[in-house]
Amino acid sequence: MDIKVSPSILASDYANLQSELQRISNSDLIHIDVMDGHFVPNITLGAPIVKAIKRVCDIPFDVHLMISNPIDYVEDFASAGADIICFHTESNSDIEKTVDKIISLGKKPALAVKPKTDVDVVIPFLDKLSMVLVMTVEPGFGGQSFMEEVMPKIEKIRSINSEIDIEVDGGINEETVKIAAKAGANVFVAGSAVFKSENPNEMIETLRDNANI
Ligand code: DX5
Ligand code: ZN
Repeated sequence: MDIKVSPSILASDYANLQSELQRISNSDLIHIDVMDGHFVPNITLGAPIVKAIKRVCDIPFDVHLMISNPIDYVEDFASAGADIICFHTESNSDIEKTVDKIISLGKKPALAVKPKTDVDVVIPFLDKLSMVLVMTVEPGFGGQSFMEEVMPKIEKIRSINSEIDIEVDGGINEETVKIAAKAGANVFVAGSAVFKSENPNEMIETLRDNANI
């Protein structure tokens, strides 16, 4: 199982995205948090920004849609340069239709579950999915504390499928990455831990090393 670190640019300096991306040149993926002010209270950025930063970054884009109607926007994000398109089971869009649309656009579909959502909801779609995102905080804000109580959800998906990427998002740092890796996660989103560190590229290496258990 490949270990991947996906720094969240939510914690970066939006005034200097190009240079912020250069500070994380060691990363495996770039995690882009899209919030619509409906599904979560905040609004972040949309497809035009994704398109702009695609021109200056060749690391694959892991786009996390925290929006109410993802099916209406997957085409925009696909043409903007998203590589993985992740949406929430709790959104209003039909899961199967949205997954199929992402696949038909030549992109990798991923499904996310909030901390209180039963992970069983993703099981019928595992064969079509590239990745499952198990949220380790309530979506909407960076800098929250890791919720260890959701680890059984990761263990359950890993016991059913040993190949699929399982991503964790929220409160990941040098210590919590070990807990999530032990549960079976292999893709680690980190916002504050990476961007607030003095040397983001070194922090990415540390997270990768610590996940390698
Ligand atoms: C939260 C976002 C996360 C966030 C993680 O809704 O989905 O990607 O950026 O931030 P940290 O790593 O600071 O908890
Ligand atoms: Zn995220």
